[in-house]
Amino acid sequence: MLTALVSPLGPSALWYVTRATGTVTLILLTVGLVLGIANVGRLASAGWPRFVVERVHRNISLLALALLLVHIATSVLDSFAGIQVLDAVIPFTGTYRPLWLGLGAFASDLMIAIVVTSMLRRRIGHRTWRAVHWFAYLCWPIAVMHSVGTGTDIKESWMLALTAICVLAVVAAVWARIGFGWPERRPPRAAALFASIALPLALALWLPGGPLGAGWALRAGTPLDVLQHAAGGSGSTTAPTIVDGTVKQKQSGNGIVEVDIALSVADRKLPQLAVRIYGEPAADGGVKMDASSVSIGSPANPALYSGSITSLKGTAIEATVKSAAGKSLSLVINLSVDKAGAASGELLAVPA
Ligand code: HEM
Repeated sequence: MLTALVSPLGPSALWYVTRATGTVTLILLTVGLVLGIANVGRLASAGWPRFVVERVHRNISLLALALLLVHIATSVLDSFAGIQVLDAVIPFTGTYRPLWLGLGAFASDLMIAIVVTSMLRRRIGHRTWRAVHWFAYLCWPIAVMHSVGTGTDIKESWMLALTAICVLAVVAAVWARIGFGWPERRPPRAAALFASIALPLALALWLPGGPLGAGWALRAGTPLDVLQHAAGGSGSTTAPTIVDGTVKQKQSGNGIVEVDIALSVADRKLPQLAVRIYGEPAADGGVKMDASSVSIGSPANPALYSGSITSLKGTAIEATVKSAAGKSLSLVINLSVDKAGAASGELLAVPA
């Protein structure tokens, strides 16, 4: 019903709701965690008595759960990525960005467990409730990694700034928690301090080559048909095209093997593709790649886009190439090569 209502507005209306609810859930999760820590630390004032802090912490966490359910529902209802209900419950089982979506499912399972045990607190006893509640410290960074790894908006400066603010807020709260908590327990305090510095630092170092780098959609595990559909929607893709040509291999004096793959592409704008792989000979007759170059273009400008191979599995090649204007393409080439060196197969080129 919801799909029927939304789809006439455009295929990605549900996707926008997924993104919006994901972002608000993360903000609420962050505020909930900070208020939870404030509550344990008995941080209160005349204007904000402790029972208010506790109640706001509880209500914000409930609101976060409600929004999370909408976030999950819209991502499942949207047929775009083919996400199933089970993918949202059992981590790492889906086909769409399995690791990054799996982290979301993991965080969501933890969040549901934390909220449900809080509602049953009287029945299950303080010790069990508390043991489960500690998982909030695990749930939050996992949710952040899910957001960064699978979110579309992380490439926008506002989302980067928002994520940075959430991280800083939680780091400050954790430091306060370390300051007023468990004076007798040194190892967990040291571990929490280490994690609160090392994890944000690792995230900041990984982001530029990871989700902010070229070809992340492909590297993150987006199925090819989804990528193709997304790119087709924007009208800026080379559809999967038939390629054929030759594969030649020669060995130089220093033992390095050079494999030259010259392909004609059934595409008007980019009819020529050249792949070169350099490396030592492998036992199976192939080559252990040390270096590579890939260029795609026209007879007048054969290197309109150039770059290198990012993954090589047999004759399945993935590459990222860039034009002089800075436009990047992810290339996926699947070839079959006969004994005489004649190659044929398919090329998929999508904006990176
Ligand atoms: C505590 C749990 C979760 C939190 C806090 C969370 C939060 C987020 C955030 C902040 C984003 C980025 C939104 C953007 O870029 O604008 C996101 C993206 C996404 N999440 Fe979640 N999420 C959670 C669990 C889940 C689960 C269980 C699913 C599974 C169905 C899911 C599906 C998605 C999808 C498909 C996207 C990508 C949307 C896009 O392309 O931008 N999330 N999530």
